[in-house]
Amino acid sequence: KRKIIIDCDPGHDDAIAILLAAGTPQIELVGITTVAGNAEVEKTTRNALKVCEIAGIHDVPVMKGCGQPMVRKRETAADIHGDSGMDGPVLPEPTRQVENEHAVDFIIRKLLESDGDITLVPVGPLTNIAMAMRREPAILPKIQEIVLMGGGTFGNWTPAAEFNIFVDAEAAKVVFESGVPITMMGLDLTHQALATYEVADRIAQIDNPAGKFVSELLVFFRKTYLEVFGFEHPPVHDVCSVAYCIDPSVVETRKLRVDIETRGELTYGMTVVDVGGVTGREPNVNVAMKLDHAKFWNMVTAALQHFS
Ligand code: BDR
Ligand code: CA
Repeated sequence: KRKIIIDCDPGHDDAIAILLAAGTPQIELVGITTVAGNAEVEKTTRNALKVCEIAGIHDVPVMKGCGQPMVRKRETAADIHGDSGMDGPVLPEPTRQVENEHAVDFIIRKLLESDGDITLVPVGPLTNIAMAMRREPAILPKIQEIVLMGGGTFGNWTPAAEFNIFVDAEAAKVVFESGVPITMMGLDLTHQALATYEVADRIAQIDNPAGKFVSELLVFFRKTYLEVFGFEHPPVHDVCSVAYCIDPSVVETRKLRVDIETRGELTYGMTVVDVGGVTGREPNVNVAMKLDHAKFWNMVTAALQHFS
């Protein structure tokens, strides 16, 4: 079993990422930590609890994390995810509670207690991960791998920057320069993870609350992705990171040098990917390039069928 901690800001695609992890037997979901991103951290935390409740995930702790980026002012993505951060499906208020431990403390504790066999899966801004690295550098050699969603060779929030990196580029800089093995699911890859009509139909036929929930998520996500970006089908970015943890052969990657821009007037939050190898610097990131779309959606539908 591969042990992972999902650090997230649910978020339509974050929610599906949680379900893929919890519904796949080869994954041990050690915890779900939340961060401000698509919405304020109070909202993303409530959404994470709601996801657990609807799917009957009772044994995975949920910890609230940082509510503000390290340096910048907070920015959210209500255009894409609605005011709640997860608009669309109408879910009951969660009865489950968040744990008392802070997300950053949880990440540090679990890593220090581990045998170096935990993978971090950040699918929101990187604030919690960077804070944990700064607070307790002894965690660095304990992290097996970081499989993050963020960045790419183009942007979706500015022409140069992807949302997760843009929201806390200083945090991203800490993480990308940490020396920990990183696999990056950037927009080049995640824009291939499209929930086509055929996919949506398959999910609509899954007869359990998790399947119904994802169907409703996709209806809302399709609408905003069409309105805001003109996409015919919504890309479920964050799910790619979990899919890679289950079976790395679902994506093709290239080892490249990636640095984070934190000073550019037009390029703040850009992941500068040295595709041509012009810097001659040591590659630090496994950059995901190509997705096996059929294999990917088979994983997701299998996981959703797993819930009762
Ligand atoms: C990323 O931004 C968020 O809105 C999504 O959940 C995903 O993590 C895509 O740029
Ligand atoms: Ca996210």
